[in-house]
Amino acid sequence: MTGEAAFYDNLRLSFAEARRLIEAGSQSRHAAAHHPVVATIGADGSPRQRVMILRHVDWAERRLRFHTDSRSTKIDDLANKSAASVLIYDPEPKIQLRLSGSAIVHWEGAAVDAAWRQSTNFARRCYLAEHAPGMVVEQPTSGLPEWVEGRQPDDAEIAPARDNFAILLFTFDSLEWLYLANSGHRRARWQWDSAVANWHGFWLAP
Ligand SMILES: Cc1cc2nc3c(=O)[nH]c(=O)nc-3n(C[C@H](O)[C@H](O)[C@H](O)COP(=O)(O)O)c2cc1C
Repeated sequence: MTGEAAFYDNLRLSFAEARRLIEAGSQSRHAAAHHPVVATIGADGSPRQRVMILRHVDWAERRLRFHTDSRSTKIDDLANKSAASVLIYDPEPKIQLRLSGSAIVHWEGAAVDAAWRQSTNFARRCYLAEHAPGMVVEQPTSGLPEWVEGRQPDDAEIAPARDNFAILLFTFDSLEWLYLANSGHRRARWQWDSAVANWHGFWLAP
């Protein structure tokens, strides 16, 4: 189609573009995929969504890594039901990506230690919060202890925050693509085929 991107009518190139956008999200805070919406299912069966920062992509494992407070509600959701979905919209190329799979949370182990080590003390600071996220409080608050408000804690001060730090690993086996174009939208899905260890892609009606 004249004037359209090379991936417009090409499944293989569309997949490559989806992959590029997701990887950019883990590498640049300016990329749209840096802050996807992560959805879980609450204990009452209702959907629950929140924005999270995409920290790392492992394409071989089909896995995205996020960081979170070990006391947050999303962890209860996932303990109850591991199903999860990640939604990305990049307004510049007008591409929506919907990833479906399941997620697991880790508090301990080499991967958690490495993620903690890679974080700055400023990023770690939020894990010093005295109350669990979402707790009802008497006064408006950042949740942080007063002594650390407005400043960066040193290594000794930040150490206790490690207990509240967890990583959320989301593994996806379905990737859905929607490309909005004046010449006609394009929609596709790739399913992970474990029998052949590869993605199987097909077009969908938008
Ligand atoms: C731009 C932005 C980035 C955020 N990044 C994270 C994050 O990386 N991890 C996280 O747990 N919450 C993050 N949040 C807060 C979540 O959206 C959410 O409010 C919080 O995790 C509590 O969710 P829960 O009660 O469903 O567990 C972010 C919020 C915004 C607006």
